[in-house]
Amino acid sequence: MKIELEINSLAEIKSEVLIVPIFQEDNLSHPLLAELNQLSNGVLALLLESGELKTKKTEISYLYIGKQANISRLILVGAGESAKVTSQLLGQLAATVIRFMVSKKLASAVMLVRNPSNLVSNLLARHITEAVLLAPYEQNKYQKKEEEDFQISSLALAFEQTIEKPLFDEAVLRGTIVAEAANFARDLILEPANKLTPKEFARRAGEMANSLGLEFNAIDEEELKKLGMGALLAVSQGSDEPAQLIVLRYRASKSTDNSPIALVGKGITFDSGGICIKPREGMWEMKTDMSGGAAVVGTMAAIAKLKPNVDVLGVVAASENLPSGKAYKPGDVITAYSGKTIEVIDTDAEGRIVLADALHYANQQKPSCIIDLATLTGACIIALGNCRAGMMGSDDKLMNELRQASEQAGEKLWQLPLTKEYQDMIKSDIADIKNLGGRYAGAITAAAFLRAFVGDTPWAHLDIAGTAWQEEDQPEMAKGPTGYGVRTLVEFILSRSQKN
Ligand code: BES
Ligand code: MN
Ligand code: ZN
Repeated sequence: MKIELEINSLAEIKSEVLIVPIFQEDNLSHPLLAELNQLSNGVLALLLESGELKTKKTEISYLYIGKQANISRLILVGAGESAKVTSQLLGQLAATVIRFMVSKKLASAVMLVRNPSNLVSNLLARHITEAVLLAPYEQNKYQKKEEEDFQISSLALAFEQTIEKPLFDEAVLRGTIVAEAANFARDLILEPANKLTPKEFARRAGEMANSLGLEFNAIDEEELKKLGMGALLAVSQGSDEPAQLIVLRYRASKSTDNSPIALVGKGITFDSGGICIKPREGMWEMKTDMSGGAAVVGTMAAIAKLKPNVDVLGVVAASENLPSGKAYKPGDVITAYSGKTIEVIDTDAEGRIVLADALHYANQQKPSCIIDLATLTGACIIALGNCRAGMMGSDDKLMNELRQASEQAGEKLWQLPLTKEYQDMIKSDIADIKNLGGRYAGAITAAAFLRAFVGDTPWAHLDIAGTAWQEEDQPEMAKGPTGYGVRTLVEFILSRSQKN
């Protein structure tokens, strides 16, 4: 889909489809609506009069206006209160319409980017680009197709406030890079575990790194043993597929400070629970237990293209978690890379175990901060549902920056407390730490465990168990993998880069 700048005024626009956001306060005294009413031969007035014009966010009214006109179809999309418009909302509305257009096989459109609150036009261009390139993603890779997937050829944006072409192009380019990176993460998440093994995960990360000029290393089991990564190896020992520690590095050419921002991802390509095996219902979804790792790899792809002034390190601990005669067992004591001993209470709390080694590895590269992403706990889904990730960490400044980045990116999160009480809940009788904190506060005790492996480095953890995969279609996105995290991380890294 090409995203273009429309400079013609409404009277001169020629298009198969015209997309117009409609506010709850709209009426015919607004010049734009009066003009649209003329275009639609009075149908808009009838809709307004009968109260049938849809103004709730993402609700669509679809009008066919006629063959002769410059514009043959109107798609009016509800936008709620005009005072509450944000660029994220306009992105969501555009994405919703794109999904509608795909269902109707409409190939091109012009969108009027209504902007009553005077938002910066290039931000609007970027957010709309991101949203509309994420919108048509479908999880139909393994389905036999009668015909090629329908593709929208172009979307032109007509702004209320003028925007210079170079600024527009830059915004569209950045939006495209970020959306493609998130779609790359979604491709990885979507893959079933028989296709995406830890080795294949590493191979795809390496392929991306080679094509974009990132440093890449996949540490195999032989080397993991030499290094003493007993935690990652304990989780993978029940599987015939060898574990991989995937390491990616972006080096900024202008950076004077070599301490990287470290991104760490949980890359469990299948989580059966191990010896503490999960119930059968929904177990298939555990092919997505590498979503944190996918977000890290996707973010690195975007970073390689955007070239910020700050170094970025990406580390993914990739492994399966399976039961077998060789599998690790409850009660086992294992020695992590950091030297700390871990008592395994539950083999299904494997994410924190593999992350222990990945976090310590990242910390040895002397990063300025560490951010980890993991589909870590069902407890986080119980606490926050599917709409927000849980954020916990050791450093308020870092968490504030991440909160701002996530708001900008339109990926929601919510901070949970991580105070000393929770650290006490994972004290072991026999080892330095145990991997289970009991029934309560499961999302937080998991984070408390991770904290033991990050030293004094400012660290934040995002539990994306609820947000990485959506079970229901959303207006702006089909169900399935979301690519959650990529947009927030890119935003965070770029805003750090501007401060350099
Ligand atoms: N991968 C799961 C968490 C998860 C659950 C992710 C649902 C996405 C959807 C994790 O490894 C796990 O099994 N967590 C256990 C922890 C428990 C054993 C302390 C859980 O949440 O039940
Ligand atoms: Mn598990
Ligand atoms: Zn897991």
